[in-house]
Amino acid sequence: MHEIIEQLDEKREQARLGGGRARIDAQHAKGKLTARERIELLLDEGSFEEWDMFKEHRCTDFGMDKSSVPGDGVVTGYGTINGRVAFVFSQDFTVFGGSLSEAHAEKICKIMDHAMTIGAPVIGLNDSGGARIQEGVASLGGYAEVFQRNVMASGVIPQISVIMGPCAGGAVYSPAMTDFIFMVKDSSYMFVTGPEVVKTVTHEEVTAEELGGALTHSTKSGVSDLTFENDVDALMMVRRMFNYLPSNNRDKPPTRYTPDIADRMDESLDTLVPDDSNKAYDMKELILKIADDGDFFELQPMHAQNIIIGFARMEGRPVGIVANQPLVLAGCLDIKSSIKAARFVRFCDAFNIPLLTFVDVPGFMPGTAQEYGGIIKHGAKLLYAYAECTVPKVTVITRKAYGGAYDVMSSKHLRGDVNFAWPSAEIAVMGPKGAVEIIFRKDIDDAAKTALRTEEYRRKFANPFIAGQRGYIDDVIMPHETRKRVCRSLAMLQGKKLDNPWRKHGNIPL
Ligand code: HXC
Repeated sequence: MHEIIEQLDEKREQARLGGGRARIDAQHAKGKLTARERIELLLDEGSFEEWDMFKEHRCTDFGMDKSSVPGDGVVTGYGTINGRVAFVFSQDFTVFGGSLSEAHAEKICKIMDHAMTIGAPVIGLNDSGGARIQEGVASLGGYAEVFQRNVMASGVIPQISVIMGPCAGGAVYSPAMTDFIFMVKDSSYMFVTGPEVVKTVTHEEVTAEELGGALTHSTKSGVSDLTFENDVDALMMVRRMFNYLPSNNRDKPPTRYTPDIADRMDESLDTLVPDDSNKAYDMKELILKIADDGDFFELQPMHAQNIIIGFARMEGRPVGIVANQPLVLAGCLDIKSSIKAARFVRFCDAFNIPLLTFVDVPGFMPGTAQEYGGIIKHGAKLLYAYAECTVPKVTVITRKAYGGAYDVMSSKHLRGDVNFAWPSAEIAVMGPKGAVEIIFRKDIDDAAKTALRTEEYRRKFANPFIAGQRGYIDDVIMPHETRKRVCRSLAMLQGKKLDNPWRKHGNIPL
């Protein structure tokens, strides 16, 4: 027995060393942590249960029969985050560049299958040179097995990807099908084809960082939900986000005690909206002032900034917040912002997280770039997402709610449960100036008449009361009491039950 225990210790020690001390040092020299160090930081101390530590690849080509490392380039298992179970895989770049072999894929698939049967999230820490080249199609098959599981798990258990090294080729599609992607600055990149192929095919010269670095994906493409300076920050933020999420689609999100009382008033909100309705203000100020403890976990803060998305808590219960941002493009809806918000609304709906929507939207963005880019289809995504969604929906119109965008932004007509407006709300087909220019086009040159008519239109339509008369707005509330009214509404809606008709799946415009 003594000998066997010694052998076991030795084997464990070998597996823990991965690709060896020199490669671990090289990983550290790049400012990256090792696969195991990352898991230690991500999970509660001492909670990690490792599986398949001794699993090895079965490849014999290209000298692979002489080079095998226990664990085969990925550390897998489960542990807890603030006491709740999470499954995790962490690719080990020190072993064959973290490349994915058939055996490596089997390890990932095993934890994904378990996560599905018990209903716990999967967190993937990606640091890999992609498909294990020596294995050929066996490795591609391995990827496809993971993809299939990503899709089956979508909307059933939360899936989070953290990109902490290379992620290229078809390998990007597993993270792409998970719910959230976090990236680390300077050490991670994602692209379908690398700079060399780009140069050959399109003659563009671009660095890996420019093509698919964290900054590119958190600003231009919107692929990355959040970007961090280093591995430690990224892992700490995964832990923080985890606290907003339920373990699966049948659970409610975890609640947390807050000393912040629901009835807290904030008089400063009464002057948030400027007198001049064309002046911008910062919608984030409102979010921070009404959320529990002023705490807001924003996602995609640098992409499509005309819409804000993220998690907060109201009376300790997580909510998903979607809000137009008048500071950027006057808060209008365009292609990027519609896609950004639509995906978030669908995530919240899938995982029983109520939606709180703040509206100040002058409409959809006009222009050829938007029309040619397919704003019709992409704008429809957000409309579709809100319309199909069955979680509690509370909406507050702070100022403009014009045109189709009024309908889209969680309106009463899309089964909004509680729809409030501030006294400063303007709910109409379009702004007074545009409206008068169209309906009185014939004598638009008569400045005096136009001014009178504009004022008349403003008085008549640029307020919340017409919508209130029809019951499209449940109440006009004072800005300072927004937190109280929203908290009460969400508390009342806790028992909401609403089902959509049975169908195989809807056909969201893609
Ligand atoms: C086998 C690989 C590997 C791979 C890296 N390694 N990628 N081994 N298969 N895909 C090995 C290297 O040979 C090297 O081994 C060690 O990992 C570290 O790699 P380095 O090149 O020394 O590291 P670095 O300079 O940091 O460069 C990292 C890299 C580069 C940019 C990832 O290794 C690279 O370009 N790899 C190939 C990437 C690739 O084309 N993958 C296939 C993508 S297509 P030694 O023993 O020399 O230290 C794909 C399809 C998926 O993934 C399809 C899904 C549908």
